[in-house]
Amino acid sequence: MTEIIFKPTLHSFDTCKAFASEFQLGEGDLILTNAYIYEPYFGQMGLKVHTIYQEKYGSGEPTDVMVDAILADAAKTGCKRIIAIGGGTVIDIAKVLAVSDGEGVDALYDAAPDLTKHRELVIIPTTCGTGSEVTNIAIMARTRLGTKLGLVGPAMYADHAVLIPELLEGLPFGVFATSSIDALVHAVESSLSPKATPYTKLFGYKAIEMIIRGYQTIAKEGKEARLPLLKDFLIASNYAGLAFGTAGCAAVHATSYPLGGKYHVAHGESNYAMFTGVLKNYMELKSDGEIAVMNAYLAGLLGCGVDVVYDKLEELLNQILPKKPLRDYGVTEADLPEFAHSVIVSQGRLMANNFVPLDEERVLKIYKELY
Ligand SMILES: [Fe+2]
Repeated sequence: MTEIIFKPTLHSFDTCKAFASEFQLGEGDLILTNAYIYEPYFGQMGLKVHTIYQEKYGSGEPTDVMVDAILADAAKTGCKRIIAIGGGTVIDIAKVLAVSDGEGVDALYDAAPDLTKHRELVIIPTTCGTGSEVTNIAIMARTRLGTKLGLVGPAMYADHAVLIPELLEGLPFGVFATSSIDALVHAVESSLSPKATPYTKLFGYKAIEMIIRGYQTIAKEGKEARLPLLKDFLIASNYAGLAFGTAGCAAVHATSYPLGGKYHVAHGESNYAMFTGVLKNYMELKSDGEIAVMNAYLAGLLGCGVDVVYDKLEELLNQILPKKPLRDYGVTEADLPEFAHSVIVSQGRLMANNFVPLDEERVLKIYKELY
């Protein structure tokens, strides 16, 4: 049994300047990022690096077309090291850049997981949710196949993951909310996974505590109260990434994908729409074991009884990001059986990590309850 995978060397810096100096950024480096991140934080430093701004290649989550175009331009730079500074999209693309030696996306999928690292990879997250700086998966829409698939391989881990809280200062509250709820879901799902170990749970439960305590402060003192807590949230997101990197995510992510795919609901928000609905159904099927441990832990943090723990959790989360019924995202009643079917057919990787097995009928029941 794998206890925990911890591949990249982890660093933290108070400022971007300190990072640039320690890592001696220069001619051999390609920084993949967005202009709104690079210009305010690195623009004044006059670095001799190559830069690629991801937004010039399209908006939204990565597609094979976008990544192929970036691969072609990256090859022209002759860079030896890729430095990703951004959210999930930038980080996922950078993982592909690190393992391509001129091959395009399709060829890499054909070869995976036997991929070879061709460029050193440094990842710096600018949201507090994905935990992607410590995982080895990149998710892309494969437009030629009409589906979204993960590219995974041992070579796709970063060599260095770097936490710089300064980069989160400009994060709008909405992105802070959806990304940190995503991290909370990573921590809870991975801790309830059959692949959870004492090591993944150490990081998972601590991440839960840090995120809930942070939310309680924000609920009491207002949105600005998040600013001194950004480092905590960045660390919590990283802890949750370490936990799910080994133990995996499960039904909350699996059932949120059709909602994101069809109605373009942000990843963290679609997860929140499904979150407590999935947990309540786990409880109906099995109320002992790790879920009892989880509920007692949450009840302790929330100062309530275990019988009302999900309602109290939702009360708190609603002050950060209001939960909406699925119909408010445009979902129709006719979508629900289609969603349930697609989860069973195509999300097997995630559904294998459920606390208790959920069949198509149960998944449909969850969607109906949240509709
Ligand atoms: Fe996620």
